[in-house]
Amino acid sequence: MGEFLQQFLSCLGGITCLIFLAKCVRLLKYFSPLVWSTVPESFFRSMGEWAVITGSGDGIGKAYSFELARRGLNIVLISRTLTKMQKVASEIEQSTGRKVKIIQADFTRRNVYNDIEESLQGLEIGILVNNVGMIPSPFPARFLNGPENDEDLINCNIFSVTKMTRMILKQMVSRQKGLILNLSSAAGTFVCPLYAVYSASKAFVYSFSKALQAEYKGKGIIIQALTPCGVSTPMSNWAKTSLFIKSAEDFARQSLEYVTFGDETCGSLAHEFLVRFMKCIPAWILHSDRLQETVLVKFTENAKKNRKST
Ligand SMILES: NC(=O)c1ccc[n+]([C@@H]2O[C@H](COP(=O)([O-])OP(=O)(O)OC[C@H]3O[C@@H](n4cnc5c(N)ncnc54)[C@H](OP(=O)(O)O)[C@@H]3O)[C@@H](O)[C@H]2O)c1
Repeated sequence: MGEFLQQFLSCLGGITCLIFLAKCVRLLKYFSPLVWSTVPESFFRSMGEWAVITGSGDGIGKAYSFELARRGLNIVLISRTLTKMQKVASEIEQSTGRKVKIIQADFTRRNVYNDIEESLQGLEIGILVNNVGMIPSPFPARFLNGPENDEDLINCNIFSVTKMTRMILKQMVSRQKGLILNLSSAAGTFVCPLYAVYSASKAFVYSFSKALQAEYKGKGIIIQALTPCGVSTPMSNWAKTSLFIKSAEDFARQSLEYVTFGDETCGSLAHEFLVRFMKCIPAWILHSDRLQETVLVKFTENAKKNRKST
């Protein structure tokens, strides 16, 4: 019995070491794009002629539109404000020489998809970036104290992803190639009190992407969930960039280096480290009433300070 227990514990220790080693190797891979490009220049264009990006008038979506045009794709911008898209389109056309098509749509509404589908008719779409998303409020709040815009949020963050994917995946499958990038969030990878509806909507995107990748990997399609932490955009009130807060341009450029790294990525080395660190914090600390109260008080104080200074 003593010998059996000893062998069992040795096996368990060996397996634990192997799992830890595999995790270290996976993390080490994230350093490689800092030294050389991991994706060949022709990779993105080989997916097809056009890239469709939702929520592309500003922020991360706008940055992806520029990056993919630079890599040789024509761009379809789908977003809410026409003037912003017109400006983005003319900048892309002038700086890259690629074609840009504009579709105006508000993804909080469910009746926009027939028009979108009609406008996309006849285009060979190689890349879809399901980027559009909204947050109920940039400030943390308990569910009953936050704004009551759940339906808009579900339409924008969840419904848009399934509808756009259903629309475009079919033609990718028939061509046996395509790339779908779904913007989840680090907040979608763990339970996130004070952002309950937002983080749950991002958990949907995360799980949906990973399940879909398992279903369509064999058909030559890459589907990846992106789980960034902070990116400086209108959504984050243009938070000051730092090691852990990326500019939208840096985030889009770096994350495209990781498209062949598997079904999920934070899109940057710094965010990979941050998320791994946060996952080490026990849930009883992250979910404690005390921490939530501290966060709420800190945000209220900051908001008051900002109001006074303006
Ligand atoms: N920023 C972050 O720190 C962060 C972190 C993790 C994940 N993400 C995710 O990354 C994605 C992009 O985030 P972002 O920070 O770039 O967002 P953002 O700055 O709020 O918005 C970017 C674009 O989306 C458009 N948009 C917003 N709601 C729309 C709607 N209902 N219909 C059509 N277009 C709409 C906006 O349109 P207008 O031009 O009309 O304003 C804007 O052009 C989101 O899914 C977000 O959840 C962001």
